[in-house]
Amino acid sequence: MGKITAAITAVGGYVPDYILTNAELEKMVDTTDEWITTRTGIKERRILKGDLATSDMGAEAVKELCKKRGISPEEIECLIVATVTPDMPFPSTANILCDKIGAKNAWSFDLGAACSGFLYALSTGASFIESGKHKKVVVVGADKMSAIMNYKDRATCIIFGDGAGAVLLEPNEEGFGLVDSVLKSDGSGRNFLYQLAGGSLMPASHETVDSGKHYVFQEGKTVFKFAVTNMAEVSAEIMERNKLKSEDIAWLVPHQANLRIISATSERMGLPDEKVMINIQKYGNTTAGTLPLCLWDYEKKLKKGDNIVLAAFGGGFTWGAAYVKWAYNS
Ligand code: UT7
Repeated sequence: MGKITAAITAVGGYVPDYILTNAELEKMVDTTDEWITTRTGIKERRILKGDLATSDMGAEAVKELCKKRGISPEEIECLIVATVTPDMPFPSTANILCDKIGAKNAWSFDLGAACSGFLYALSTGASFIESGKHKKVVVVGADKMSAIMNYKDRATCIIFGDGAGAVLLEPNEEGFGLVDSVLKSDGSGRNFLYQLAGGSLMPASHETVDSGKHYVFQEGKTVFKFAVTNMAEVSAEIMERNKLKSEDIAWLVPHQANLRIISATSERMGLPDEKVMINIQKYGNTTAGTLPLCLWDYEKKLKKGDNIVLAAFGGGFTWGAAYVKWAYNS
């Protein structure tokens, strides 16, 4: 019997209907379409309206994935949700999502690694397949960033959006799936990108609400410097470890935080623009949602055997890269 790898065998995604454009943001904060476009590459982002939460977006993504693969949610054995915007502190969004889709036989949990959450969860989910423990693991990256956004802070509200993506992992004995991953974290980065209140350090109070401490804070310039360096560095590392040359790589799947960070990474890897998945212009930064939403958007272009590198950098700091051999033609 060959070595068991965790192959991605289906992809699902969901973005809300409501489109928040740069023109609309111009009316809300002191900004311009020109500034947002040239500094970030973002033109619009999706916003989840009404009485809905992260689990609702994740549920739609997983339902689509099950339909595509022709399986029932009851066949899912384990489901992981990467998110920084859980429906509530507990129970986990994964538990709620499983209930909503009828995944009655899955054990499930949330994983928090901000914008690197999907990469962390992919690696975690893959290990249950590689060990032989499970045959169907679902990994979801989902965030309702609008829930923690201050729409008076032009430094953050122009960047983030809502969305969810999901992948199904199944065992493979031909070498398809997750081949390698490099994951890193450095908690000293917590001072530059965070949501201060609402946890055990600073429980919710009138004061925390009045002073806006439940919103995302980002020191953009500092995060930018770390992101540019580390995302490129870790992507080069995964290429080196796996003896991959630029011509061996079919696609880079980068976290969608800023077009300039994506370009720095693809340049370091020696990849032309046409090998880089980009959807930041229409969804903005959906945190844990960016990587699976890229796979969802580009699924039809992916071919069996394609070498793809996923890379992310985010709050924590957390960052990493993964090398995946694509397992199917759509
Ligand atoms: O996904 C998790 C990881 N996050 C990231 O990777 C994000 C990393 N950071 C970034 O992408 C960029 O730093 C931002 C897009 C957030 C900001 O771009 P920047 O080029 O670093 O701008 P800046 O923060 O240095 O601000 C430049 C100027 C400032 O004005 P002064 O001080 O030069 O007069 C800001 O006040 O732009 C001003 N500014 C804006 N102007 C118009 C900041 N936000 C805006 C805005 N519209 N929305």
